[in-house]
Amino acid sequence: MEGKLFLKQYLIWVMILLLGQLHGYKSCILKERNALLDLKKFLISTTEGGQSEPVLPTWTNDTTSDCCQWERVKCNSTSGRILELSIRGLNLKESSLLNLSLLHPFEEVQSLDLSESKFGGFFDGAEVYKSLSRLRNLEILDLSSNKFNSSIFAFLNAATSLTTLLLQGNNMNSPFPAKELSPLVKLKFLDLSGNGFSGSMELQGICKLKNLQELDLSQNNLVGEFPLCLTVLTGLRVLDLSSNQMTGKLPSSLANLESLEYFSLFDNNFEGFFSLESLANLSMLKVFGVNSRSNSFQVVSEGSWKPKFQLNAIALWSCNLEKLPHFLLHQKDLRLVDLSDNNISGQFPSWLLATRRVASQG
Ligand SMILES: *[C@@H]1O[C@H](CO)[C@@H](O)[C@H](O)[C@H]1NC(C)=O
Ligand SMILES: *[C@@H]1O[C@H](CO)[C@@H](O)[C@H](O)[C@H]1NC(C)=O
Ligand SMILES: *[C@@H]1O[C@H](CO)[C@@H](O)[C@H](O)[C@H]1NC(C)=O
Ligand SMILES: *[C@@H]1O[C@H](CO)[C@@H](O)[C@H](O)[C@H]1NC(C)=O
Ligand SMILES: *[C@@H]1O[C@H](CO)[C@@H](O)[C@H](O)[C@H]1NC(C)=O
Ligand SMILES: *[C@@H]1O[C@H](CO)[C@@H](O)[C@H](O)[C@H]1NC(C)=O
Repeated sequence: MEGKLFLKQYLIWVMILLLGQLHGYKSCILKERNALLDLKKFLISTTEGGQSEPVLPTWTNDTTSDCCQWERVKCNSTSGRILELSIRGLNLKESSLLNLSLLHPFEEVQSLDLSESKFGGFFDGAEVYKSLSRLRNLEILDLSSNKFNSSIFAFLNAATSLTTLLLQGNNMNSPFPAKELSPLVKLKFLDLSGNGFSGSMELQGICKLKNLQELDLSQNNLVGEFPLCLTVLTGLRVLDLSSNQMTGKLPSSLANLESLEYFSLFDNNFEGFFSLESLANLSMLKVFGVNSRSNSFQVVSEGSWKPKFQLNAIALWSCNLEKLPHFLLHQKDLRLVDLSDNNISGQFPSWLLATRRVASQG
């Protein structure tokens, strides 16, 4: 008898525990489930014909299927609200327009991946331009590798909760949208590379983004001098300005960018003298590279100053360098040294090879 009673109590406890767990896990809410099905309908209507693969096969209207378990969806397991949604890489028709109203129901979404989908623009029937401000928790927006032009900035500047905005590889071909980006003050990661942005680096708007940690403006057609105001962004860890048309002298106030780890200035038209000593106090610096299409650019490294950094890689191509920089002697972690196409004379510095692996020295 006693054994039976014990078993009964045991089973009751197990049931209570199981019920508790079931209660703790919420499946997706009806409003968002319907919104996903609307989104699917839209995506099917803009998909290239003649596709053998079904579009989003797990997104079904079978009511027993929990949409938190669907592909490309991630929910908050407590609230059942959608946190992450990806429609990346669907084979849509060229330059399709995305109806932003379709995203309004995802009120708690934190990450949206719309990359590699050939989208050409946004529109929103109801509240033009303010649409994205409804997604109050949206932190990560990936729009890379689409066909967007600069008309989307009118929508994007309402997305003030964003910390990450990825726009590389679109079709902007417009002046740089500094003013349009300035309301996005929470941005930490901004990638605008490969967009054909033109005009001068009047970046006052960008320089207001005091939380920026990574800024990639490479592979555009930006002209003008290195914007002095950029050197107030002392939290920058990554700064890539390579493959543009920038001119003028590099400012000595680069010394203010104390958090820099990766700094690329390749493939521009910088001019005049640049002393490597101005980087001496950037104690986090790991990678530095520059070259200029201008013959007047000359990198110098005078005297025996000691850097606070330990580099992994340095590339100084076509920099009219005449002496091997003395500070390399103090660099213990070098994996790559590329000094091609300079005018360095004298004996090959055997000390450079003594303790490390070095790729090339020209
Ligand atoms: C449910 O989906 C099937 C195919 O996926 C479709 O044929 C059917 O019309 C849908 N039903 C409703 C009510 O949407
Ligand atoms: C998940 O939802 C709960 C309840 O609404 C909330 O307290 C929690 O912050 C949410 N978690 C995330 C990661 O959003
Ligand atoms: C955009 O989406 C909303 C919400 O689903 C819908 O009511 C509206 O008709 C759509 N607009 C167009 C032009 O498709
Ligand atoms: C930009 O894209 C929109 C579609 O969103 C289009 O209506 C507009 O004409 C395009 N503008 C330019 C300058 O190409
Ligand atoms: C580096 O910092 C020292 C003080 O720690 C200062 O004397 C020196 O001028 C700084 N060098 C540069 C290039 O900013
Ligand atoms: C290279 O350096 C030598 C002196 O070491 C100098 O005579 C020559 O003009 C320099 N060449 C260029 C292209 O600067």
